[in-house]
Amino acid sequence: MANSLSQLRKLEKAAGNWLLRCLPHKYSLPKWVYAADGFAVRSKDIRCILDERFMLAYKAAERLNAEAWPGGVPDVRWRAHVCCWAAHNGLRLEGDFVECGVFAGIFSLTVMNYLDFNATGRHFHLFDTFDGLPVSELPESEQSMARDINKALYFDCFELAQRNFSGFKHAHLVKGILPGSLDSASIDKIAYLSMDLNSASAEEATIERLWPKLVRGGMVVIDDYAFPGHTAQYDMWNRFAAKSGRLILTVPTGQGILVK
Ligand SMILES: C[S@@+](CC[C@H](N)C(=O)[O-])C[C@H]1O[C@@H](n2cnc3c(N)ncnc32)[C@H](O)[C@@H]1O
Repeated sequence: MANSLSQLRKLEKAAGNWLLRCLPHKYSLPKWVYAADGFAVRSKDIRCILDERFMLAYKAAERLNAEAWPGGVPDVRWRAHVCCWAAHNGLRLEGDFVECGVFAGIFSLTVMNYLDFNATGRHFHLFDTFDGLPVSELPESEQSMARDINKALYFDCFELAQRNFSGFKHAHLVKGILPGSLDSASIDKIAYLSMDLNSASAEEATIERLWPKLVRGGMVVIDDYAFPGHTAQYDMWNRFAAKSGRLILTVPTGQGILVK
């Protein structure tokens, strides 16, 4: 009994400490250390974002993306950090790097700068129409949202993307509609995969073809996974992961991480 009472006291103390750390205190409210892209963080060590190597990589990518975002490039530093982390993991594995849904390349450019990609000898396959979502190819349930997204964001950005990736000798831009455009690339093994198509049907058809090529330990970064309005993608990815008994990690950025 004494033992369980003292255990209870310990538990209460731990819970109290936890509450003190988590609840905003009236007199000493800690400042947000990061607040962007729909979430905010306080009382955490965020050196991963402030790290000079990461900042230089991100800032260079941001500059090249300026023309693609007339209202200003969104602050997606934490999402880019997650991509760098998963891609860095990929360097320990065999295979190429792949992104499906590239636009002007904020994520992949950050990754390539961060990893000094030319020095790695790896190949990076970058798939996109480079002209927005292919509305007529989509099921009717996705067409209205795709039209809205195209209107708000996308334009023919192929030349811009070519310019942006021109410094990387093994960056291969594949212009075309996924999953069919996968036929134009020669990919044997994949060490890192970024999925960002804003479409459940296109992502499903694409991952069905790419998953067998992803090597064990390789990660899929699913950009739209836990975003509001993207429930169809969330459900599709969870169904896909469950088929092989896997669970997707939800990151507060809204990204999902699926590890093979
Ligand atoms: C959210 S953007 C990608 C953003 C990018 N990851 C970045 O770092 O800036 C989505 C992209 O997916 C492309 N896309 C959507 N559906 C596609 C499909 N079926 N085939 C090829 N590209 C597609 C669009 O053209 C658009 O550029």
